[in-house]
Amino acid sequence: MAEEKKTIFSGMQPSGLITLGNYLGALRNWTQLQDEYNCLYCIVDLHAITVRQDPAKLRRASKEVLMQYIAAGLDPEKNIIYYQSHVPAHAELGWILNCFTYMGELSRMTQFKEKSQKHADNINAGLFTYPVLMAADILLYQTDLVPVGEDQRQHLEIARDIAGRFNNLYGDVFRIPEAYIGKVGARVMALQQPDKKMSKSDENKNNTVALLDEPAVILSKFKKAMTDSENEVRYDPEQKPGVSNLLNIYCAVTDKTIAEAEREFANSGYGNFKVAVGEAVVEKLEPIQKKVAELDKNKDYLDQIIAMNTERASAIAYKTLRKVQKKLGFVPRVR
Ligand code: TRP
Repeated sequence: MAEEKKTIFSGMQPSGLITLGNYLGALRNWTQLQDEYNCLYCIVDLHAITVRQDPAKLRRASKEVLMQYIAAGLDPEKNIIYYQSHVPAHAELGWILNCFTYMGELSRMTQFKEKSQKHADNINAGLFTYPVLMAADILLYQTDLVPVGEDQRQHLEIARDIAGRFNNLYGDVFRIPEAYIGKVGARVMALQQPDKKMSKSDENKNNTVALLDEPAVILSKFKKAMTDSENEVRYDPEQKPGVSNLLNIYCAVTDKTIAEAEREFANSGYGNFKVAVGEAVVEKLEPIQKKVAELDKNKDYLDQIIAMNTERASAIAYKTLRKVQKKLGFVPRVR
């Protein structure tokens, strides 16, 4: 018997803004997983409302994430890409798992502490139980692997704890998920503060390049990127973090090696170098942007993809949910 494919689950907030860092560091590599694994990419709109959202913007941003995923090469027939709110099992299991999660462990979550400081006027219960909904997301699909960044490790840990706790009480219901450590993509740093990672929530917009930024905007952001006072294009992340970041980006989008790039720019000043990096990025993103523009005009296609993927996700999710409900003693529904 052929070995069963493992399941990978990832959720992303529909902020719309996918950065060059997300793309080169993660998204681009995910396209190589689609044959080897069962992959689910959930656009987590239920999580998004733990902070106030403008409805029109949320709707648009959710659609933009979907389009960018497809445009970046995730095949929506091979991967299950869908909206969390379309599969009510997430909310249902989320409630159930709330009853298996302790206030104490939730209050230790770093992200809760940070977000409640940032949104002091709206410390709602959803913000507090955010990790429980995330656990439900993951556990519904009997997920083996979750690709998570540093900032989400604690949430994956609590998902594992909740699953283990439930299994101890009711038998083997949930698969215990693990972090997916894939091929490391490029680690893209903030353009003006190359000592920190490029982040979509950065308030300085010149630090981030969005996948959907206009070419002129991309070029201007690269022209303003921080370098150093040497005027020598050389890779040295310790001494020359800005230049090294630009070299990393350049090599990631052109598939050249660092040595090749160093040679190429050996005699050009930083000015030319930065323009060249910006142009290479523009060239790399152009086909993705074109594809997004096409998808944006093709509502029927997107609707059909979403409908199909919602079905596929629901089938898996409800299987787990029914099992959970039965274990808990809920009276089975008669059809
Ligand atoms: N909390 C994650 C983030 O902000 C998003 C997320 C929600 C997620 N559910 C998930 C990530 C399940 C991985 C698995 O980035």
